[in-house]
Amino acid sequence: MHNPRFDFPIFRSSHTPPLVYLDNAASTQTPETVIDAMTSYYRNGHANVHRGVYRLSEEATSQFQHARDAVRDFIHASSSREIVFVRGTTEAVNLVAQTFLKPRLQPNDVVIATEMEHHSNLLPWQAVCRETGAKLHILPVSDTGELKSEALESALNKGHCKFLAVTHVSNVFGTVNPISELIRLAHQADVPVLVDGAQAVAHMTVDVQNIDCDFYAFSGHKMYAPTGIGVLYGKTEWLQSMPPYHQGGGMVRNVSLQEAAFREIPYRFEAGTPNVVGAVGLATAIRYLQQLDRIELQEKETRLVQMVVEQLKQYPSIRTWTPTQGHIAVVSFVIDGIHPHDIASILDQEGIAVRAGHHCAMPLMQRFQVPGTVRASFGCYNDVSDADALIAGIRTVFNIFE
Ligand code: ALA
Repeated sequence: MHNPRFDFPIFRSSHTPPLVYLDNAASTQTPETVIDAMTSYYRNGHANVHRGVYRLSEEATSQFQHARDAVRDFIHASSSREIVFVRGTTEAVNLVAQTFLKPRLQPNDVVIATEMEHHSNLLPWQAVCRETGAKLHILPVSDTGELKSEALESALNKGHCKFLAVTHVSNVFGTVNPISELIRLAHQADVPVLVDGAQAVAHMTVDVQNIDCDFYAFSGHKMYAPTGIGVLYGKTEWLQSMPPYHQGGGMVRNVSLQEAAFREIPYRFEAGTPNVVGAVGLATAIRYLQQLDRIELQEKETRLVQMVVEQLKQYPSIRTWTPTQGHIAVVSFVIDGIHPHDIASILDQEGIAVRAGHHCAMPLMQRFQVPGTVRASFGCYNDVSDADALIAGIRTVFNIFE
C-alpha cells in the first residue's frame, strides 16, 4: 500500500525530535490534498452559497452540494437530504436532543445512554431529561471496556424507553460496539437510536442503511478534514418531523414580521452562512480516504494497537484495557504510581504526542477508579516505527521514575 505519511505536510516539516503523532482520536492531521482544496476554494472560488445568481456563487453552491453528495456516498445514506452539515459531533447530538427528543419526552420516560459515552453524547441527554422530567438510564461497561447487549435488553424490557444514544467506537478504549445488534434490539422496542460515529468513520467503513441507525453523527477533524465541520445523518422521516434548531437566514422560504415558513430538509437545519470551505475540505478528505485500501488500513491500525498492547502487557505495573469483541485504533493505559500527565509530558519530550486525562469521559474514569489514562490513538500515517517509539518512550518513563 502507498504510504499515506508522505501525503501529510506535517510529517515533512522539521520537528526535533521527529514527530510521532498518536493523538488521532482527538484530531487527525490534514493531508496536502485537503489543504490544497481549501486554499484553492478561497483563492479561486469563494462566494456565499444559495444566495447569488452570479456564476461564482453558483459554483460555490455547487461545490457545497457536491460535498453533501460525497458525504451521502461515504456513509451510504439513501439521499443527500439526510445529510445536515453541522460544526461537529457535539452540535449534531445537541440538535437531535433538542429538536427530535425533547418534544417527544414526558416525565418518567426513559432515555438510554452508556457508561462509555464521550461527554458530548451524554450531557445533551442529561439536559433534555432535566428539562422534561424523563430519566436517564445508563448501560454499564464491563471490566474489559465493553457493552453487553443483555443490559440493553433488560433496560428495554422495563418499558417507557424513548431513545438510545450510543457510541460506535469508544474514544477511550477503541471498543467497537455491536452496533447493528444494539440498534436491532432498540427497534424491536420501537426505540430510535443515535450513534456517535466520531471515532468510527476514519477507521472503518460505515453504512447507515445497513446498520439501520436513525441518526449518525461525526466530525471532520477526526477524519483528515478541517475543524468546524461535521455531519448529522438522519432518516428522512425523522428529519422532516423536526423543527429547526437555529433560526436565521438561508433556512426560510417566506418571512413576515410575525412568522416564517421554513425550507425543506436539510436546509432548515443550516441557518446562517454555512462552513463552505469546511465542506469542501471534508469532501476532499472523503475522496482521500476512499482512494486508500480501507480494509488494509483498518488491519494495519488494529495490528499497531495489538503490538502496543502486547508490549504493555510485559510490564506488571501497567494496566491496559483490551476489549475482545472488537478493538480498533485506540489503546489506553495507566502505570501504577505515575500520573498520566507525567507520562504524557515525558513522552512529549521524546516527540511523542498522546493524550492524557479523562478524555471527556469522566464517568468512565470513575467506573475504573483512575484519575485518567494515557491514550495512544492511531491514524492512516502511523506505522511500526511509531509503535516502537511509544514503547521506547515508556521505557524512558520507567527509567526516570526508577
Ligand atoms: N473527542 C476528542 C477526544 O476523544 C477530543 O480526544
